[in-house]
Amino acid sequence: SVLEMEVEQINKGKYEHYMQKEIHEQPESLTTTMRGRLIRGGSCKAKSVLLGGIKDHLKTIRRSRRIVFIGCGTSYNAALASRPILEELCGIPVTMEIASDLLDRLGPIYREDTVVFVSQSGETADTLLALEYALENGALCVGITNTVGSAIARNTHCGVHINAGCEIGVASTKAYTSQIVVMVMLALAIGDDTISNQTRRESIIDGLFELPSKVREVLKLDQEMKDLAKELMSEQSLLVFGRGYNYATALEGALKVKEVALMHSEGILAGEMKHGPLALVDENLPIVVIATHDACFSKQQSVIQQLHARKGRLIVMCSKGEASLVCPGGSCRVIEVPQVVDCIQPVVNIVPLQLLAYHLTVLRGYNVDQPRNLAKSVTTQ
Ligand code: G6P
Repeated sequence: SVLEMEVEQINKGKYEHYMQKEIHEQPESLTTTMRGRLIRGGSCKAKSVLLGGIKDHLKTIRRSRRIVFIGCGTSYNAALASRPILEELCGIPVTMEIASDLLDRLGPIYREDTVVFVSQSGETADTLLALEYALENGALCVGITNTVGSAIARNTHCGVHINAGCEIGVASTKAYTSQIVVMVMLALAIGDDTISNQTRRESIIDGLFELPSKVREVLKLDQEMKDLAKELMSEQSLLVFGRGYNYATALEGALKVKEVALMHSEGILAGEMKHGPLALVDENLPIVVIATHDACFSKQQSVIQQLHARKGRLIVMCSKGEASLVCPGGSCRVIEVPQVVDCIQPVVNIVPLQLLAYHLTVLRGYNVDQPRNLAKSVTTQ
């Protein structure tokens, strides 16, 4: 109806699509996610994190034998992005489960496990069934959702709300970045009882404070990503290589391209390059390589060299000022992004890929907010 159309227009404001609005809203949604939860510290107080919804369960979580992340789609990718920092700060083994796969296998879940359910909607059928299964097995169940009062929020023992604000586009964008920030804060909260990594924790907290402004900066790549989308719009396929903190970025970037732009895309763990993907490389297939500066940088440089040696058509994402380090001959296309603390770099790095997926979709003439065959919330198995 006309009224519905007008309400839509008001909700979208100056944007043409919800996905576009939600991508550009991320400096604000990230701020809301962190509001009241980061403690700046002071003369006698250390910088720290306060997560009201789990503080009474922290002791139990610290004693658990294992942390298991469970989710589907983008929520699974967000958990994957946070895994390395959780392992580093908490020293507890962290394993990953796609909800449906855990249910297919009825994989072992123990009383000594902390199981973290990650879901934007809080209603995904497989995640909810995995929750029932983990509850039956006596694990401590933690919910990370964007929907107050959702089934996952209600049925877990404790949890953290993402507070990213309502997300309407079927492809998750702002919920993804806020989920990562929540899980980094979770890692900081769990690891809070050791003095050994205090400096590391404080540098991450400083990084979180400046994250919204860094995301605002990376959003300025909008036009550059639109130009790149014009070049790539008629391609059949796009590969995205990542590793370490940005393995998840590769999976999530490829997921965005495939779900909205309806273009085949695959996220590839760069360490697996020689075990198959290298066979696909030629001068035509476009390949995005994420090579921002972190502990994996030199390994990623050598991946770039090897792809280059096979005449790969490379688009390299690197830290600002490092173009000459990732692309010595100046022969590949470079996307320079602001550098932040390694464990939150995935939040910055996904933004150009969200923009790329968005522009590819518009240029290819597909429905941005409701891609064919997909639903925002998958409530049936
Ligand atoms: C659907 C949506 C995705 C989402 C996934 C998991 O596939 O289209 O955007 O990532 O479900 O949803 P959840 O609400 O559990 O995060």
